Amino acid sequence: MSELILDIQGLTKEFILPNKETLTACDQLSFTAKKGQTIGIVGESGSGKSTLVNMLMLMETPTQGKIHYREKNILNLNRREIWQLRPNIQMVFQSPTASINPKMKVIDVVTEPLFNYKRLKAKDKRKKAQELLALVDLSEEYLERYAHHLSGGQCQRVCIARALALNPEILICDEATSALDVSVQKNIIDLLINLQKKNNMTILFVSHDLALVQSFAHEILVMQNGVIVDRLSQEQNLNASEVTYTQCLLNSVYSLSKVKQRLLLEN
Ligand SMILES: Nc1ncnc2c1ncn2[C@@H]1O[C@H](COP(=O)(O)OP(=O)(O)O)[C@@H](O)[C@H]1O
Ligand SMILES: [Mg+2]
Repeated sequence: MSELILDIQGLTKEFILPNKETLTACDQLSFTAKKGQTIGIVGESGSGKSTLVNMLMLMETPTQGKIHYREKNILNLNRREIWQLRPNIQMVFQSPTASINPKMKVIDVVTEPLFNYKRLKAKDKRKKAQELLALVDLSEEYLERYAHHLSGGQCQRVCIARALALNPEILICDEATSALDVSVQKNIIDLLINLQKKNNMTILFVSHDLALVQSFAHEILVMQNGVIVDRLSQEQNLNASEVTYTQCLLNSVYSLSKVKQRLLLEN
């Protein structure tokens, strides 16, 4: 797990608001990611997590800073080079239903990226779609369905299958499990862990849930107001973090044992 895949230095994004004030959504962010590593990016709503990953996807232009993917500065690419880069960095979004065209069947959703990149022949479409669904533990009976005939969890599996179609080296998940039931969320995370082991992908997993991310990320970046305020390794006991904000996030986790403890103290 030593190969450096992503090197981000001083990444900053300022938005100019309608009242001409400047909002710094991301402020001098620096971190690296290695091949096969899962980085958790955690922080409350509005802390700049989506802006950060949108810059990595080249959906937002940084005000300042560098993004190197495999030693290549991806902020200087021309359109053709961006097209060539895209398959390597793919993203799964929070709302699975909103990110699937409701008029398309699952078979077309998951194979679309391959046709766009001319990596699939029409005659091989069904077989490839089946393979992709198998990766996310969905049987071929789902191939002919539309998004509105799927549960939230099944829909997110389809989105993951689509993101995996081009065999990306980096998978970015922006609150990809936040809209799902807790049990479904766990299944999707188990799925991602297995996929990562198989494909040796690098995963950037964005979430507001620190306890969840800690269960599987190798490293966690804690963001507050656009700044990385804490960096934690998996081995590190989160409770030992000296950063008050990390403690606040931890304390905001609803835990039955904590409630019981408090009730005992009060009585
Ligand atoms: N296009 C935009 N124009 C102006 N402000 C924005 C824009 N996108 C995001 N922001 C602001 O940047 C901050 C960070 O937002 P975001 O990256 O979405 O946070 P998070 O994903 O952590 O909830 C927020 O204050 C948000 O309102
Ligand atoms: Mg967000």
